[in-house]
Amino acid sequence: MAAHIGEGSGDYAALLSAAQAEVAEGIDRLFEQLLTIPADPREPLYRAMRHAAIGGGKRLRPLLVRAAADLFHIDRALSLRVGAAVEAMHVYSLIHDDLPCMDDDDMRRGKPTVHRAYDEATAILAGDSLHALAFEWLVDPATHSDPFVRAELMKELAHAAGPAGMAGGQMMDLAAEKSNFDLHTVTRLQQLKTGALIGFSVEAGAILGRLPPDARAPLRGYARDIGLAFQIADDIMDVEGDEALAGKALQKDDAAGKATFVTLMGLERARDQAHALVEQAVGHLAGFGEEAALLRAIARFVVERDR
Ligand code: IPE
Ligand code: IPE
Ligand code: MG
Ligand code: MG
Ligand code: MG
Repeated sequence: MAAHIGEGSGDYAALLSAAQAEVAEGIDRLFEQLLTIPADPREPLYRAMRHAAIGGGKRLRPLLVRAAADLFHIDRALSLRVGAAVEAMHVYSLIHDDLPCMDDDDMRRGKPTVHRAYDEATAILAGDSLHALAFEWLVDPATHSDPFVRAELMKELAHAAGPAGMAGGQMMDLAAEKSNFDLHTVTRLQQLKTGALIGFSVEAGAILGRLPPDARAPLRGYARDIGLAFQIADDIMDVEGDEALAGKALQKDDAAGKATFVTLMGLERARDQAHALVEQAVGHLAGFGEEAALLRAIARFVVERDR
């Protein structure tokens, strides 16, 4: 299936699905523990968070944290906690992205969106809560014994989620419906909207591994390329994907008049570009050996996925 991309991809699917299943199971277990429902009037808030966070999604970001942290032989219980924090941030972004004032979507991960299953106020608060909990979990000594490591993780996640990252990208995305953005601007939009949290996920592995910042260039290059390839794949899926597999409404970008990689480049070139970015991402890992096999497998998965 992936044999046409690069070399050594023979058993990439098996490697990927084993790691993905383990991470998905671990993330569900952690969310179960961290989001225990209280016996007081906050109960619907917790139920709403659990509805959005447990039992769905590809868990790509926690998988990236694990794959990058594995390069440095980090205890997997630690990389899983960091994965839960970035996944909480991602789930918050999805809850708010689906709100009527944003994309106005009814389905997410094959289930009703939070504001549909509950109501808008609860959805906003569930998002706010997951955003805050991500930091609360990171700052907990259970995440790492060194407070400097925890502080760096929090600083980087804050940067990736805020106006210079995901939230800024979402703002540009709203503007994309009314403006004629060129390819350069759409690329910047996607790097913020999607690339920033993906970048954090890989960076987190390096932070846990105490890799000095000036040695992180190959991992940053890898993250930048797969982040862009991931969003191109999302844009392609919006045009020609299967809603039942995707678990969300598709063909929304064109209807909204939104400039995306597909509207700007056409399907064929967008597909070529996504594959070229995967090759480039894998190229950044040339200095690593077998220990980077999962990162290479994830790069391929990012463009070959059907959901
Ligand atoms: C969807 O992200 C939103 C984008 C950033 C394009 P994912 O495709 O990672 O969604 P889940 O986590 O698998 O549901
Ligand atoms: C959402 O992008 C990205 C974030 C939530 C930051 P999209 O609006 O394209 O994602 P989908 O297609 O609804 O998953
Ligand atoms: Mg959106
Ligand atoms: Mg959306
Ligand atoms: Mg989309």
